[in-house]
Amino acid sequence: MQGIKYFPQDLNIEGKRIILRVDLNVPLNNKKIQDSTRIDQVLPFLKDLVKRKSKIILISHLGRPKGIKDSALSLLPVYRYLKEKLNTNMYFYTGEINEEVNAKSMYLKESEILLIENIRFFKEETENDENFSKRLGEMGEIYINDAFSCSHRKQSSIYSITKFVKEIYAGPLLRKEIIAIDSVIKKKKNPVTCIIGGSKVSTKIGVISNLVKSVSNIVIVGAMANNFLAYKKYEIGKSLSEENSEDLVKKILSEAEAHKCKILIPEDCLVSKNFEGEAVSKDVKFVEKDDIILDVGPKTVKIIEKIIDSSNTIMWNGPAGYFENKNFALGTNAIALRISENTKNGSLFSVLGGGDTVSAINKSGLELSFTHLSTAGGAFLEYLEGKDLPGLSVLK
Ligand code: 3PG
Ligand code: MG
Repeated sequence: MQGIKYFPQDLNIEGKRIILRVDLNVPLNNKKIQDSTRIDQVLPFLKDLVKRKSKIILISHLGRPKGIKDSALSLLPVYRYLKEKLNTNMYFYTGEINEEVNAKSMYLKESEILLIENIRFFKEETENDENFSKRLGEMGEIYINDAFSCSHRKQSSIYSITKFVKEIYAGPLLRKEIIAIDSVIKKKKNPVTCIIGGSKVSTKIGVISNLVKSVSNIVIVGAMANNFLAYKKYEIGKSLSEENSEDLVKKILSEAEAHKCKILIPEDCLVSKNFEGEAVSKDVKFVEKDDIILDVGPKTVKIIEKIIDSSNTIMWNGPAGYFENKNFALGTNAIALRISENTKNGSLFSVLGGGDTVSAINKSGLELSFTHLSTAGGAFLEYLEGKDLPGLSVLK
């Protein structure tokens, strides 16, 4: 992506208030951080800004609280984690976005950090509300977007805020992601296989209809696969799926045929009656009304491994199953291992992305290696698709 204005390394920022939008959207379970990758990646730049005596206003979302203050999605655990890692005064702001927060930003001393509570606790964030964006913008003289993984969202703290701050830049993490993904797009060799899984079906299903035009194979796993199984009239029981997706699936399948892109969906799966249960392996024909599909089955794993072996480039986003329960990490771990082996022996170019994908890889305990591992999921897919991401277009 050309023309993005990056934060200049030699800029004098002493005493300046910097609004830094990052992605601290980490997986939580009972308010405990399950994977700290996204926070750890933000740390070096934060430390640099602290060292250079700026005043930092840190903004992030966590999950999708839909404008409601949901304590399960509070950034408090992230605040505690950051505070432990950073050697400076840090404050957590849980109030409204008004004069009060503005005053707090004014009172910050050099090298201090003010973390704003989950910005999606305010519905104005996702509505990209002008007034709200203006109030956010008033907190600083410089705005830096270092959240590539959120840049596909036209939301206040990513998009409209940029109208209300004088100096706007992209941060170093965002830069690193773009350079890495651009180099893969440039060097990719056919056959290209895209593996798409995860649970954010609505975000990704639209992306697939575009990807069929440019890749050789699309392997559909995770909750995404349930829509395709349901479309083919298989019982999917109580499995996660997107309502009214039939027309989209139909369009994807016919577009795929027109562009000679092979679409692979699972032939067997691992099911259980609940998320904490044991795995039962079944052909997709035999799923029952009270089953939840939580992973792909061993037969499907073999087929996917063959496709990986025959590919020269792999792009993967979204786990194949509910890997949080190790009984359902079969598909995800097998895919990760095969891609890694082929990357290590030089026969494959691999780019992986997504918060959950990264978390699954860390959790697998396997020694894995890939050409590029991105923390971005939806943004990564849309960027690959060739879309102009709203959050990036305003950084030019
Ligand atoms: C992600 O996890 O991909 C980013 O944090 C963006 O989250 P969103 O899909 O809820 O906008
Ligand atoms: Mg995510």
